[in-house]
Amino acid sequence: MAIERTLSIIKPDATRRNLTGKINAKFEEAGLRIVAQRRILLSREQAEAFYAVHKERPFFGGLVSFMTGGPVVVQVLEGEDAVAANRRIMGATNPANAEPGTIRREFAEDIEANSVHGSDSAENAATEIAFFFTPNEIVG
Ligand code: CMP
Repeated sequence: MAIERTLSIIKPDATRRNLTGKINAKFEEAGLRIVAQRRILLSREQAEAFYAVHKERPFFGGLVSFMTGGPVVVQVLEGEDAVAANRRIMGATNPANAEPGTIRREFAEDIEANSVHGSDSAENAATEIAFFFTPNEIVG
């Protein structure tokens, strides 16, 4: 398996409940390394652009409001098969369907306030990483 990088976002529901460290521990315990990390407030323009693929979905407006409603932690995770590994660590989008031990099962409030985002493919990971980080901000 190849060493990959993936984009992760710790969402406002999790930063509000002071869960950044517990979520980061899940990544590190599973063997992923946090090779870039920044706590920011997303602008409406940034959130709309980041989630543009969902702009026709009924939940788009709520998603943008939620993602701009508090701090997020954007981060790059690195490790073997990192895209798929992170999706396993996060669990299903809807916490009601997430496996025990996953971040969303343990911490998410509902399908919108689901604590974390992770890239869904290597191709999207490259685009999403470049959305937030320049190469010299990522230290492997
Ligand atoms: P994320 O992995 O960040 O990608 C898109 C987000 O949209 C998703 O996590 C959820 O937070 C949100 N989302 C997906 N489906 C729904 C839904 N049916 N209702 C509300 N929010 C959703």
